[in-house]
Amino acid sequence: MPMLKKTTLALATTLAGLTLAAQTQANEVEVLHWWTSGGEARAANVLKELMEAEGYGWKDFAVAGGGGETAMTVLKSRAMSGNPPSAAQIKGPEIQEWGELGLLGSLNDVAEAEGWDALLPDVVADVMQYDGEYVAVPVNVHRVNWLWANPEVLDDAGVEMPTTLDELFEAGDAIREAGYIPLAHGGQAWQDATIFESVVIGSQGGEFYQRALVDLDPEALGGEQMVDALEEFKRLRELMDDGMSGRDWNIATGMVIDGEAAMQLMGDWAKGEFTARGLTAGEDYLCAPAPGTEDVFAFNIDSLAMFRVSDEDEQEAQQALARLVLEPTFQETFNLAKGSIPARPDLDMSEFDSCAQQSLSDFQRTAEEGGLVPSMAHGMAVRADIQGAIFDVVTNYFNDEDMQAEEAAERLVNAAEAASF
Ligand code: BGC
Repeated sequence: MPMLKKTTLALATTLAGLTLAAQTQANEVEVLHWWTSGGEARAANVLKELMEAEGYGWKDFAVAGGGGETAMTVLKSRAMSGNPPSAAQIKGPEIQEWGELGLLGSLNDVAEAEGWDALLPDVVADVMQYDGEYVAVPVNVHRVNWLWANPEVLDDAGVEMPTTLDELFEAGDAIREAGYIPLAHGGQAWQDATIFESVVIGSQGGEFYQRALVDLDPEALGGEQMVDALEEFKRLRELMDDGMSGRDWNIATGMVIDGEAAMQLMGDWAKGEFTARGLTAGEDYLCAPAPGTEDVFAFNIDSLAMFRVSDEDEQEAQQALARLVLEPTFQETFNLAKGSIPARPDLDMSEFDSCAQQSLSDFQRTAEEGGLVPSMAHGMAVRADIQGAIFDVVTNYFNDEDMQAEEAAERLVNAAEAASF
C-alpha cells in the first residue's frame, strides 16, 4: 500500500475514533450516589460497566457519607443552580418532593416498553411514580432490620445469635467478659436512627412502629411504649465502645469481620462488605433479623430518579440507564455485590446467599401477613424535613446522659408537628 494511502487510512481511523469518543461524551450520564464503601463501590461499578458496554459514558458523582444526607445537600445545591446531574439516588417520599418541583423527567416510555407495571410489586412501583408517571427506577430492596455477627467471637463467648433484646443484652455481658466489643457502632445521626428504628420494632412491634414513626401519631410518639423503646435504645450504649463517635458504618462492619467486635445492627448493605472480603454467609458470618423483629421487614428501596434535561443525547442515555437497571443482568450482579435483593421478584435466586434468600422470603411473607414497613431512618417513611427533625432528637437523646426518655418522647412529638408546618 503506497505511503500516502496508509497515512490517510490511519488518519481516517483516528478521526473515526475521535468521533466515537465525542459521541460517547455526548451520550453521557452523570450519576449522583453515595455508594463509596468497598462493597458499595463494587456494586456501583456494575452499572458503570453495563452503560459503557452499550457505548454510553458514565460520569461518577459520588458523595461520601452513609445514609446519603451529604449527597442530598450537594444535590440540592446543584439542582438549585440549574445544573442537576442526569440521574441521582433519590428515595421514597423525596421522589415526590422533587416531582412537585417539576424537576424530574418521565420514564413512562421505558416503563411501558419493558412492562414495569407487571414486573414490580405494588409497594415498589408506587414509590417510583409521581402524579401517575414513572420518574425513578428501583435498583434493589434492602432490609434495614438485620443483626450481623462473627460466629467465632460468639463461640468464644459461649453465646448464640440473640433473637430478643433481652438475649442481646445477656449475650453482650458474656461477650464483654470474653474480651470483645459486643456491638460495633458508628456514632453518626443516621446510624443512631437506624438502630433506634430496629429497637422500636424489636421492643414494641411492627404495628406500633408504623403508628409512631410512619404515621406520626402523636399518642404513639409521645406515649409510654415510646418511652420504653427509648430506654431500651439507650441501654445499647452498654454494648458499644468508646471510640464509636463519628465512625463510618463500614468501619464498624470491619470490626465484626476482624473479630474485634461480635455484632452489628445494620441494613444489609453491610453484607456487601462481608462479600467484598470474600466471606460466606452462614459460615464466616451470620445474619438474623434484628432481635425481636423476625415478623417485620423494614424496607429501604434504592432508586435512581432522572432529572429533566434538554439535550437529546443525554435523554437517550437516561432512558438506556433506566432500562438497564431493571434488566436481569444488572439486578443480579449489582444486588449480589450490594447485599440487597432484586427489585423484581421474578429472577432466579439460586446464586444468592442464605441471607438474601431469607430476605426475599421474609419480604414476601410480611407483604402478605402484614409487617412490611417503610424505613424511617432510610428515607422511606416520612418527608426529609421530618426525618431530619427526628434524627436530631434521637441522636441528641442517645448522646446526652442526662436527657430522660420522657423528654425525648415529647420532643419526638414536637419534631413531627413542627416539621409539618
Ligand atoms: C442506602 C444504601 C447505602 C446505605 C449506606 C442507605 O440509605 O439506601 O444504598 O448502602 O445507606 O450508605
